Amino acid sequence: MNHFEYGPEGLACEGVALARIAAEVGTPVYVYSRATLERHFTVFRDALVAAGVVDPLVAYAVKANSNVAVLKVLGDLGAGADTVSEGEVRRALAAGIPPERIVFSGVGKARREIAFALKTGVAEINVESEPELNLIAEVAAELGVRAKVAFRVNPDVAAGGHAKIATGKSENKFGVSFAEAARLYANASNNANLEPVGVACHIGSQITDLTPMREAFSKMRGLVEQLLGEGLSVQRLDLGGGLGVPYFNHPEPPSPADFAAMVGEVTKGLPVKLAFEPGRVIAANAGVMVSEVIHVHARPEGRKFLVIDAAMNDLVRPAMYDAFHDIRPVVKRPESQKGGETVYDVVGPVCETGDTFTRDRVLPPLAAGDLVAFMSAGAYGSAMASEYNTRPLVPEVLVDGDRYAVIRKRPTYEEMLARDLVPDWV
Ligand code: LLP
Repeated sequence: MNHFEYGPEGLACEGVALARIAAEVGTPVYVYSRATLERHFTVFRDALVAAGVVDPLVAYAVKANSNVAVLKVLGDLGAGADTVSEGEVRRALAAGIPPERIVFSGVGKARREIAFALKTGVAEINVESEPELNLIAEVAAELGVRAKVAFRVNPDVAAGGHAKIATGKSENKFGVSFAEAARLYANASNNANLEPVGVACHIGSQITDLTPMREAFSKMRGLVEQLLGEGLSVQRLDLGGGLGVPYFNHPEPPSPADFAAMVGEVTKGLPVKLAFEPGRVIAANAGVMVSEVIHVHARPEGRKFLVIDAAMNDLVRPAMYDAFHDIRPVVKRPESQKGGETVYDVVGPVCETGDTFTRDRVLPPLAAGDLVAFMSAGAYGSAMASEYNTRPLVPEVLVDGDRYAVIRKRPTYEEMLARDLVPDWV
C-alpha cells in the first residue's frame, strides 16, 4: 500500500497535491511519502517478528534512496543501514543511525574507507574476498583495533529481475565461495585483529520468486551449522535484500509476510541473530518523480513523442535496465475521463536515443504544460541521478500529512559551475 491517490486537485502524495509541489518547487522533482516509508519498514520488520525471528536487524540499503531525511525517518523507527561507501556510512551517521546498526558492504572498499569504518565502530564489515580480508586485518592492526567481519558468500543461485542486478551466481564479482568462507572464517578467528561475527549473502534485486531465496538461505544455514560445528563463534546471519516490488507490468512479488514466513521456516532453531538489507521494498513505492510535458511532437508517419522535462540523468532505470515505470497524469483532463487514449513514446531532452522512458505507452491525451508522475521511483531514482548534459541534479521533497519540505535543493547554475576550476595556465 502507498499514499499516492487522486483527490480533488489530481494525484496527491498524502495530503499534498503533486501539482502544488510542482508549481512551488519546479519540475522535475522527486516526491516521497513519509507515511509510506514508515509503513513499508514497519510491515517488513513486523512480518519477520511475527514469523518468529527474534530482534532482527533491518539494515535499510542506503543505496536505494540515500537522502539523509529519508534515512532519519527510517532510523527513528529502529532501522539500521547497509552501506557500501564511506559516503553512505557518513549519511547514516548524519541521520542519527548508531554505528552498531551499520553494516559496511561492497566489493572494493578502499583502505581509507576501511579505516573510517573501523574508527566509527560499525557493526560489521562484510568481507567480499581474501585480499580484502587481508587489507582489513592490516588496517585494524595499524589502528590497534579488532575488526568485526562477516563473510559475504556467493551462493551460486540465479535470481533477480534483470541480468545487471543479479548478483548471486559464481560468475558475478560478489562474495566468496562456501569453501573459501569456511577456510577464511577459521583463519580470521585466529587473527588478533579480526573478530568474525557472521556470514552474509545477497543474491540479487527485484526478486519476485521466493524459490531462489529459499535455496540460498538454506545453503547459508548449512554454512552456519558447519562453522558452529567446528567450534567457531557465529553471532549473525545476514540474508541481504532483494525482495521485489510491483512495477505494474511485473509478476506480483511475494509479500513481506510470505518472505518472512519462508525465512522463519528456513532459519528455525538456528542460534544466531538475523540481519536483512532491504532497499527497494522500503523505498520504491514511497516515491514518484513528477515531470512536465514540454511538447507533444507528432511525426507525420504517426509516432507521437511526449517530450518531458525529465531525462535519463534524472531517472536512469528505463535506459539502464529497460525498467518499467507506470506513468500517470497528475491531473486527469475531462476528455481523458471519457476514455480517450493515445499511444506515446515518452522521451527526455538528453541527446541520446537511450533517453527514452518508454515506447508505445497508452496514456490519456496529454498536452504541453501537463504534469506526469513516474510511479515506483522512490528507490534507485534520485540516488542514481546525475548532472549529465549539465542538467541540475533533480531536487527531492518529503511529504508528511498535509505539509512538505524540500529535502534536497535543486542546485543553481552558479553552484554547478563553481565546482569547475580553470587553472591559470589554461
Ligand atoms: N544488499 C546488498 C549487498 C546489495 O548489493 C543491494 C542492492 C541491497 C542489499 C538492496 O537490494 P534491494 O532490496 O534494493 O533489492 N539499481 C538497480 C538495483 C541495484 C541493486 C544493487 N544492490 C535498480 O535500479 O533496479
